[in-house]
Amino acid sequence: MSVEHAPEGLSGRTPGQQHATAYDEATRARLDADAAQVIARYPQERSALLPLLHLVQSVDGYVSPRGIAFCAATLGLTTAEVSAVATFYTQYKRHPNGDYTVGVCINTLCAVMGGDAIWEELSEHLGCDHDETTEDGSITLERIECNAACDYAPVMMVNWEFFDNQTPQSAREVVDRLRAGEAVAPTRGADRVVTFTEMSRVLAGFPDGRADEGVAAGGPTLEGLRVAKGHGWTAPAFPGDEGASARPAASGDVPPRVGDEQSSAQRPVTTSGDVSPEGQQTKQASDDAKES
Ligand code: FES
Repeated sequence: MSVEHAPEGLSGRTPGQQHATAYDEATRARLDADAAQVIARYPQERSALLPLLHLVQSVDGYVSPRGIAFCAATLGLTTAEVSAVATFYTQYKRHPNGDYTVGVCINTLCAVMGGDAIWEELSEHLGCDHDETTEDGSITLERIECNAACDYAPVMMVNWEFFDNQTPQSAREVVDRLRAGEAVAPTRGADRVVTFTEMSRVLAGFPDGRADEGVAAGGPTLEGLRVAKGHGWTAPAFPGDEGASARPAASGDVPPRVGDEQSSAQRPVTTSGDVSPEGQQTKQASDDAKES
């Protein structure tokens, strides 16, 4: 059964109540100070909208009407523009969320490996369908698509932390422990799962210091790399970037360049921003000029 759950001590909406339309003075002052920090990270104020939506979720437990109004007023947008963005992404919740979003991957690989059975077990056990919250407000259950963790299928996420190689029984144990208020550790990542509002604050850009806890890429993920290295296999160069494979691998002192191992930009150097920090600044200034 679905209920609309407001975090304790906050004024999110519960059934039969009107939407709160404004923050109290202390909360508003805190939001203003946090928003100023977030906005300062971007050359264009409106670029801060996504983290600000997470910020209001960290206070209200969802993107509330007053949160939309806050984002609009803070960034000089209309509430319609803010709502248009908030309704596009599934991480933004349009009604009060539970303390833990439990997402069961039902995409093809996880489904055939047991994801469908996990979904059926949890849906029945919790009395929830997709995007519904338990009556105690602890769990919001979701069907989710591939989480790029297929090597650990079937996978379940709790507030976007990985629970790998699940079974209906193990998944049920996880939700029971969460509802009992126990600290629960994901298979990879941080040492314990934090609440939805705590995670939302991290996603808004306020680290909780847990990013480097636990295993990130585990054995199955790295297996292909291990086999390739054992055989001396390397990927062919991109057209026009034949020199990339001849460059030395990135060291701790030198940031990886585009196309190098460990670079997140696995493509040929194509812009001045790919070459140096100065080039990045020049490119940013040029992009800003085109926008204004
Ligand atoms: S299909 Fe479930 S993580 Fe990819």
